Amino acid sequence: MAVLIGRDLLSLADFSPTELQELLQLAIQLKSQQLKLRCNKVLGLLFSKASTRTRVSFTVAMYQLGGQVIDLNPNVTQVSRGEPIQDTARVLDRYLDILAIRTFAQQDLEVFANHATIPVINALTDAEHPCQILADLLTIQECFGRLADLTLTYVGDGNNVANSLMLGCALAGMNVRVATPPGYEPDAKIVEQARAIAGGKTEVLLTHDPELAAKEASVLYTDVWASMGQEQEADNRMPIFQPYQISEQMLSLANQDAIVLHCLPAHRGEEITEEVIEGSQSRVWDQAENRLHAQKALLAGILGAE
Ligand code: CP
Ligand code: NVA
Repeated sequence: MAVLIGRDLLSLADFSPTELQELLQLAIQLKSQQLKLRCNKVLGLLFSKASTRTRVSFTVAMYQLGGQVIDLNPNVTQVSRGEPIQDTARVLDRYLDILAIRTFAQQDLEVFANHATIPVINALTDAEHPCQILADLLTIQECFGRLADLTLTYVGDGNNVANSLMLGCALAGMNVRVATPPGYEPDAKIVEQARAIAGGKTEVLLTHDPELAAKEASVLYTDVWASMGQEQEADNRMPIFQPYQISEQMLSLANQDAIVLHCLPAHRGEEITEEVIEGSQSRVWDQAENRLHAQKALLAGILGAE
């Protein structure tokens, strides 16, 4: 994927539909071990929020490519002591080959990327979670053998995952419906971006009606009701979000062969019931595994692994 060499991934909108499709194909080839790629490069992980999947899958992906990883825990670097982002970026640029950042403001990620010549990957911000959506699309592709024209319904908080899902579905030629309580809609600018990508050929629908959204969907997707950094709002949000829980009743409205996805970590009894997450239509463990394959393809593409 020569076209990705040296590129940043700050938003899923950084990819064209063709680049996304090719990246997913590369992930499928790497997963099946039909293709083996190597690169002797160093990835830095600069995570200011907790992470299990993203941290471990990036680390293992890099090891499997023959590269190395440095965990730049902000608490033991000068980052937590307030060293300016611009300075940290210019210094890390001189040591590393690629950097994955998990932080709060999308703007901080952008400042970082603007001051570093090495590729910078968004490993989650308050606005987006593009790497998650690469794995989600890979999972959907595996389950249905295609992406185009399928309908994905996201119910819950209009958060980073919802924002990136809208972009990812639009790029993949899928219909996307996002059902949130009033006041918790996804980012209006990203909705516009997704609609521009869809170009009227597929749907980018916002609604407050979870049942309407779930009807005849192929994929039902949810995420936590309070994201990292919003913990103090969690109790207040509980009754507001209750009608948006993925339950067996909601699942019965979707297509018979619908699958259920959740980026994890999950709160059973809140955004999803125990029966559904552990049920026969849940694909959450394959989805979590696919973080490894999708990110390996991403790293291989950006680093020009051969
Ligand atoms: N889904 C996801 O990004 O999980 P982590 O927060 O554990 O990395
Ligand atoms: N929306 C969640 C996703 C966690 C992977 C958060 O930002 O906390």
